[in-house]
Amino acid sequence: MDLILLGAPGAGKGTQGALLAERMGVPKIATGDMLRDALRQGTALGQEARRYMDAGELVPDSVVLGLVREALTKPEARTGAIFDGYPRNVAQAESLSGLLDEIGRRIDAIVYIDVPEEVIVRRMSGRRTDPQTGAVYHLEHAPPPAEIAERLVQRPDDQEETVRNRLSVYRQTTAPLVAFYESAGVPVHRVDGTRPIEQVQGEIMELLGQ
Ligand code: AP5
Repeated sequence: MDLILLGAPGAGKGTQGALLAERMGVPKIATGDMLRDALRQGTALGQEARRYMDAGELVPDSVVLGLVREALTKPEARTGAIFDGYPRNVAQAESLSGLLDEIGRRIDAIVYIDVPEEVIVRRMSGRRTDPQTGAVYHLEHAPPPAEIAERLVQRPDDQEETVRNRLSVYRQTTAPLVAFYESAGVPVHRVDGTRPIEQVQGEIMELLGQ
């Protein structure tokens, strides 16, 4: 199955994507995670991406397309993938259709995680990431084990001003993808992302018939 997780920054795409990937045995292809990896490794791509990410703007389409193309050629992606944070605009959606077409696949479903903006702004201030494993926690809603609490970091783009810009970019360029896929006849499953993580997970699994 090839599945796209859509939703605003902080809606819970990464959290649900990691759980779904494990349960469905397919990789999560998360462009944000790949860009942060490139940044940590100090590659030229990472350097180029940094100024966009720090400002909460989208990295150029050509950069992310290369990352997704590479991820799709890996053996673990041969039976499907969960796309998290990609596509983010209509041009990326069309590129993804083209990539999948080349390997005889198509998007089977969209899961749209709906969370109001004010909930998101509050939620982002509590997000923490483990730099060693990439695991994502929340100080209140998904507390980390005490023994790793000290090494957790906050993402630079989780400052309130940057979050508000990311939300504005989302509203203008990514949110229209819901209508784009609906009009293309792809099933779009809407999920209330304000409920606890396990409940959101349960509903997604049920909607997908898993
Ligand atoms: P990216 O990393 O993709 O960020 P995003 O889409 O803004 O999404 P987030 O990772 O912030 O949130 P999420 O929905 O995954 O939520 P999470 O599960 O972590 O992109 C970052 C930047 O990279 C972009 O701004 C752009 O510059 C660039 N980029 C990436 N992809 C690109 C592309 N395709 N094209 C161009 N540029 C691109 O959850 C958030 C927090 O809430 C966590 O602490 C979590 O524990 C908690 N939480 C999750 N679910 C719940 C729940 N149900 N209840 C309470 N708390 C919850």
